[in-house]
Amino acid sequence: MNANPRTPIDAGALRAALPAWRRVDVLENTGSTNADVLALAKEGSPERVAVVASEQTAGRGRLSRSWTAPAGSAIAVSALFRPVGVAPARLGLLPLVAGLAVVDMVRSVAGFPSLADGGDGPVVGLKWPNDVLLDGRKLCGILVEAESIDPPALVVGIGVNVDLTEEELPVPHATSLALAGAPVLDRTKLTAGLLDALDRREAQWRRNPVSLMADYRANCLTMGAEVRVELPGGAELLGTAVDVRQGGELVVRDDATGEERVVSAGDVRHLRARGGGYAGDGLRR
Ligand code: BTN
Repeated sequence: MNANPRTPIDAGALRAALPAWRRVDVLENTGSTNADVLALAKEGSPERVAVVASEQTAGRGRLSRSWTAPAGSAIAVSALFRPVGVAPARLGLLPLVAGLAVVDMVRSVAGFPSLADGGDGPVVGLKWPNDVLLDGRKLCGILVEAESIDPPALVVGIGVNVDLTEEELPVPHATSLALAGAPVLDRTKLTAGLLDALDRREAQWRRNPVSLMADYRANCLTMGAEVRVELPGGAELLGTAVDVRQGGELVVRDDATGEERVVSAGDVRHLRARGGGYAGDGLRR
């Protein structure tokens, strides 16, 4: 029942649903939940604490962009992890872990009947490296910030578009759960599902990174797609995405040479599936 998806999150119900989380702060508004959790990290807070807000006045996006959504229309959540023992070179996988958790949440909580039984409803999955696509459009933003690398103290910030209308979308290639016809828009249930999935996927990443990456590949819509990779300096690579390596790099078979080339997220300016649009037809399967 979605009487009004923009009603406040039920903090008591949320905490009760999340026994694995030490602390979950639920705010009506704040500047940025990432900034709030970075401050907690600096104070020495233990991991698995989260801050959730119905409205952010200074939400942060990637590449120093801002991130905005009308009050109550989205999930804005940030969580602290201290993955001691994970090699610094592997910490860059955490945004992929977060993307997978969002996919889990959409499959298990948003209530699309066809997703649970593998039917032909909306397609949800990951556009490499960590864009969550719902029917070919971007559903959420993920920003991981480090309070420190060694020892690691990392803040995973996730913004999921829940109830935004077409007019409220920040960019035309975005979407929301409501626009995709999700039966469940209750932000308390969705946030609980998201933090539960994030807890499980982060633990899987630490314990068994091979199985985590196998699950990532199984949910990555870029695998098998014909792609155009824009590299720094204007170079372009046209080919087929054939794999995602254990370190998160994308392997593309070059159309021109037939050779496999490995690209890292940090080296890619844009990844487009050929066919146009944000995701391209190749990622709309
Ligand atoms: C992107 O640019 O795609 C990433 C956007 C990340 C937004 C989320 S909303 C919750 C958390 N708090 C922030 O200030 N940013 C992240």
